[in-house]
Amino acid sequence: MKTRAAILREVGADWSVEEIELDDPQAGEILVKTLAAGMCHSDEHAHDGTMPVPMPLVGGHEGAGEVIGLGPGVTEFEIGDHISCSFIPSCGKCSFCASGQQNLCDLGMHLMEPGMMAGGFRHHSAAGEDLTPLLKLGTFAEHMILSVDSAIKIQDDVPAGPAALVSCGVTTGYGSAVNRAEVTAGDTVVVVGCGGLGTAAIQGAKIAGAQNVVAIDPSEFKRESAIDFGATHSAASMEEAVEMVGAMTLGVMADSVILTPGVLTGDLIAPAQFLTRKGGTIVATAVAPAMQMDVQLNLFEFAMMNKQLKGCLFGSTSPRKEIPHLLSMYQAGQLKLDEMITNTYALDQVNEGYADMLANKNIRGVITFD
Ligand SMILES: NC(=O)c1ccc[n+]([C@@H]2O[C@H](COP(=O)([O-])OP(=O)(O)OC[C@H]3O[C@@H](n4cnc5c(N)ncnc54)[C@H](O)[C@@H]3O)[C@@H](O)[C@H]2O)c1
Ligand SMILES: [Zn+2]
Ligand SMILES: [Zn+2]
Repeated sequence: MKTRAAILREVGADWSVEEIELDDPQAGEILVKTLAAGMCHSDEHAHDGTMPVPMPLVGGHEGAGEVIGLGPGVTEFEIGDHISCSFIPSCGKCSFCASGQQNLCDLGMHLMEPGMMAGGFRHHSAAGEDLTPLLKLGTFAEHMILSVDSAIKIQDDVPAGPAALVSCGVTTGYGSAVNRAEVTAGDTVVVVGCGGLGTAAIQGAKIAGAQNVVAIDPSEFKRESAIDFGATHSAASMEEAVEMVGAMTLGVMADSVILTPGVLTGDLIAPAQFLTRKGGTIVATAVAPAMQMDVQLNLFEFAMMNKQLKGCLFGSTSPRKEIPHLLSMYQAGQLKLDEMITNTYALDQVNEGYADMLANKNIRGVITFD
């Protein structure tokens, strides 16, 4: 069939919205009509070259839609089901899935390979040129072919925008606080970078019972919006927050520091270390340039103060459990998702949406499809 998609042909090029050819879904695949796609910073990392990905590609890895076609033998879904994409697939069978760590599913090893999940089949093309859907999803398209491992059945009555946000950003940010930093009642938590992920981390910390949630962002709009989502204090930089965090903790410093800036660089670790109390936790969630090797860290203080530095992929959680769970918290009014969608865009406005993200105009921009 023919559909329309936002294509990236090389690092630094504009997104090009074009008609593409999509094959029929094969065994283990479904055809989905896209209803909404979130504009995560990670697509920008494909665009700016921070994250090397196979090109040309169909962009987008946050998305939600409705199942409109089934490959031969597919029993996991029915026509009309509503799904949220999962940017890491979960097979349910590998040892990591079986031990409740679906974010580490063995299928993740194929995510940076060209083509589809199974055997690298090509299902997307434009004028005869093969395209790779980003992270096997490609949500910046009116239709998607997904592996059943990359789709999560969700509640039918959740609006598409919120359902798209839990595909990646919200689940990752929330889990960075709740699962990886293990925030508990009365904690002091510092969140560095208050875009889509940071806003979800702030909400997670608040829901987990944090007493102080310190939002750090150079953007005044983000510092103000962080307060609306539950932050108790804000600062423009980690350096600026040292005195404040010291004062609110009687000099002990923060139980955890969560790093969700637009890009993670090695110079951000030492300032996070000095905001963290002895025995405390630094969670590194943001994407760093793929070849980043050098990190500023005071090794003596790190060991002698018994601190922890943890990476965090997809909120250190299992998407098949967490995605419907977060959406039920949204339905119960516990998690603010509508409020995170600052602006919506048509597919043709994808470049404008990313310019707005980089200009700090959005908590999250979302592409909507009619
Ligand atoms: N680990 C994962 O599984 C995972 C999943 C999704 C996204 N990510 C990554 O998380 C990061 C955040 O993504 P996002 O979509 O929330 O981005 P975003 O652009 O919405 O927000 C980033 C925020 O960081 C702020 N910022 C930039 N430099 C800063 C600094 N030095 N100190 C404090 N704040 C700073 C910006 O002003 C902005 O508000 C990106 O690197 C993204 O690729 C990681
Ligand atoms: Zn698995
Ligand atoms: Zn993402």
